[in-house]
Amino acid sequence: MKITQAILPVAGLGTRFLPWTKAVPKEMLPVGNQPIIAKIVDECMDAGIFDICFVINRGKEMIPQYFYEHPELEAELEKRGKLDQLAHLKKYDEANFHVVYQDEQHGDGHAILQALDWVDSESVAILFGDDLFAGKKSGMQQLVDAYSALADNERGAMLALETIDPSQTEKYGIASVAATHVSSDRLHAIHGLVEKPRPEDAPSHLGIVGRYIIPRSTFDVLPTVGASHGGEIRLIDALIEQLGAIPIFGLECEGTRLDTGTPDGYIHAVQVLTNLKS
Ligand code: UTP
Repeated sequence: MKITQAILPVAGLGTRFLPWTKAVPKEMLPVGNQPIIAKIVDECMDAGIFDICFVINRGKEMIPQYFYEHPELEAELEKRGKLDQLAHLKKYDEANFHVVYQDEQHGDGHAILQALDWVDSESVAILFGDDLFAGKKSGMQQLVDAYSALADNERGAMLALETIDPSQTEKYGIASVAATHVSSDRLHAIHGLVEKPRPEDAPSHLGIVGRYIIPRSTFDVLPTVGASHGGEIRLIDALIEQLGAIPIFGLECEGTRLDTGTPDGYIHAVQVLTNLKS
């Protein structure tokens, strides 16, 4: 089964980047000559995913705007012979972009739920805006490859995992894993998930990082999981609810994962990605 659709929830308030995020979405911060969000869209397209839905809030319209066609500008670039720049712009004509709004911030799962009417495939990719991957293969490419190696009856949800520092468990969803799948020793069946446990309560040091493939059935569960967290709907709670009911796999991704969600993490990501280029 081919993954063709991706949801990019980018409607968060970005409080850790205030006051910057009063005026500019953190996803528009530059890494080299691209904003972070373009790296994530490129990651989708490189993995063969061309239907992309942004979940934004009011004021973040510049995110989809970056990818839209701009015929007058393109004509002007052509006239001036700036063909490299033109090709850079035209690259995104290949993808179909869609936008939905999350008017109130009730959590990442609530953001994903806003895209429900747009989803028309059995499984959809989710890419959170804070995580970037540096390495031979992007996180989403690794998930898509691992997903396609599964048998039909094994295709439920798949999450990207990373071994995290044991002191950092309170920042991550943590997975406990059972058997390793025959197709790869990095792919594990997940039998437990816990959101942001204290280090002493963490069942493992495998943290979930911002790439998922989820089945349509997760959209049926999402509306039911907000009550226990003051109305906040979190994707991990829907997946916890589905444990045992659908296959859920975790893939230990190769490469370096970079967290751009904090100012320090962002500075580090810029350094790593700039050094890779030079
Ligand atoms: P974060 O928890 O990092 O929240 O969300 P945030 O608002 O981006 O940043 P801080 O914590 O206030 O600094 C993880 C991802 O989920 C999206 C965010 O945009 C980010 O990509 N998200 C989160 C939503 O789209 N809506 C929400 O209600 C919450």
